[in-house]
Amino acid sequence: MQKSALITGGSSGIGLAYARHLDRFGWSLHLVAQSRSRLAGAAEMLKSETDIHVLDLSSPEGVRQLTKDAPVPDLLVANAGITLTGSVGTLTQSATAQLQYLLCGGVIDLVQWAAPVMKSRGHGRIVIISSIAAETPMPNSAIYASAKTGVTAFGRSVHGELIGHGVTVTTSLPGYVRTNIHERAGLSHLKRQVPNWMWLSPEQVVKETEQASLAGRETVIPGLVYRMTRPFLGSKLANAAWRTLTKRGASRRNH
Ligand SMILES: NC(=O)c1ccc[n+]([C@@H]2O[C@H](COP(=O)([O-])OP(=O)(O)OC[C@H]3O[C@@H](n4cnc5c(N)ncnc54)[C@H](OP(=O)(O)O)[C@@H]3O)[C@@H](O)[C@H]2O)c1
Repeated sequence: MQKSALITGGSSGIGLAYARHLDRFGWSLHLVAQSRSRLAGAAEMLKSETDIHVLDLSSPEGVRQLTKDAPVPDLLVANAGITLTGSVGTLTQSATAQLQYLLCGGVIDLVQWAAPVMKSRGHGRIVIISSIAAETPMPNSAIYASAKTGVTAFGRSVHGELIGHGVTVTTSLPGYVRTNIHERAGLSHLKRQVPNWMWLSPEQVVKETEQASLAGRETVIPGLVYRMTRPFLGSKLANAAWRTLTKRGASRRNH
C-alpha cells in the first residue's frame, strides 16, 4: 500500500529535501508552508501525488486547520521553522510567542493529533527537526534555543511512551545546514563567517535522519563533525570557540 507523509515546511530546505527523498520511493505527500507559489514549485518537482496546504503554523489556528484538512499520515515530519535573533528583552511578546509556537507548541499540538491515531494503528513514525541549539547555549538566539530544547525534550519523552506501540519519534539535531533560513533572518553573513566544514547539505540531514527514524532511534545528530564535538558542547572552551565562529548580532533581525 502507498505510504503517506505530511511534511511541514516542505517547500524549501530540509523539508523539500525530505519530500524529494520520499518521492523517489513513491510516497504520497502532504506539504505545508505559508507561500503558495513556493509550495506549487515544490509540488511540480515531485512525481508523487502531492497535496499542498497553505497555512501559517505559527498560531494554533493554522495547526487546527491542518488537522482538519489532512489525514494522519504514516510519517509526520515536523520541520517548519525560522530563526530569529535578538538580545534578551528586545523581541516583542508576539514575535516571541509565534516563534515558540512554530518551533515547539505547534509541533506538540501536531504530535498530539497524530500519535493516538498511529498508536491505534500499531504503526507510524514521527520525525521532529530540532537543532543542535538544544545542546548548547546560543547568546542572542535564546528564544530559538529554548524552543528547540523544549521540543527536543518533548520528542524524546514521547518516543519512550510510544515505542512499545509500534510508533517512533525521532528528534534530529542538525548544526549549520545550507538552506534559506539564515538569509530570511538577516544572517547571510553566517555563510561567509562559519567555516565550510561546519555546513551540512539538506540531503545529508535527511539521509541520516531518515535512517535513524527507520531504525527507531530516539535522537540523531547529523554529520560526523557535530557527533564528535557533542560531548564538548557544554564546555567553556567550546562555547567560546562556537561564539567566535558563529557570532550573531545583538540587535533584532526579523525574518
Ligand atoms: N538551516 C539550518 O542551519 C538549520 C539548523 C538546525 C535546524 N534547522 C531547522 O530546520 C527546519 C527547516 O529549516 P530550513 O533550514 O530548511 O529553512 P528554510 O529553507 O527557510 O525552510 C523553512 C520552511 O518552513 C516553512 N515555514 C516557515 N515559517 C512557517 C510558518 N509560520 N508556517 C508554515 N510554514 C512555515 C517555510 O515555508 P514558507 O517559505 O512558505 O514560509 C519553509 O518551507 C527549521 O525548523 C529549522 O529550525 C535548520
